[in-house]
Amino acid sequence: MKGTSSAQIRKALKEVENQLEPKRENLIPALQVVQEKLGWLPREAMLGISRYLKIPESEVWGTASFYAQFRFSPVGKNMIVVCRGTACHVRGSAGILRELERELEIKPGETTEDLMFSLERVACLGSCALAPVMVVNGKVYGNMNTVKVKHLIEELRKQETKKSGKSKKTRRVK
Ligand code: FES
Repeated sequence: MKGTSSAQIRKALKEVENQLEPKRENLIPALQVVQEKLGWLPREAMLGISRYLKIPESEVWGTASFYAQFRFSPVGKNMIVVCRGTACHVRGSAGILRELERELEIKPGETTEDLMFSLERVACLGSCALAPVMVVNGKVYGNMNTVKVKHLIEELRKQETKKSGKSKKTRRVK
């Protein structure tokens, strides 16, 4: 279970037990609590929810997979969201997304194997005047182009290398 320890999962499940009664109708809130704590839904956590709420694991999976809000792979340290709305499209967001896919070797919805980056795309970020726009870790970057994207990724990698003291190559996990 890449990126999330059993201790973290146990802690998230404890939180579920503290916040919610062991009732079937608490399935979605329980999934939300775990995802809020861990950023995604590891299998071990889904199993824990299944036991606590006395719901078959297949049903827990079935429900979770029905909702787009739930993730089944870990989220990277840096979340990159690219706007693919009309205003951004007209001003070159397709090229920006392609550049990110090339740099990170992942597609939207995926995370690099070293858990450094996750990539998502959305329909509109609400900052059309700054198109093309992307958001990195909650910060909005407007008037983007492929050169700026390259520099931003380099900068984020440098920061990470400084923190970890070594360089890592990013690879896709799914
Ligand atoms: S279309 Fe991209 S921010 Fe609105």
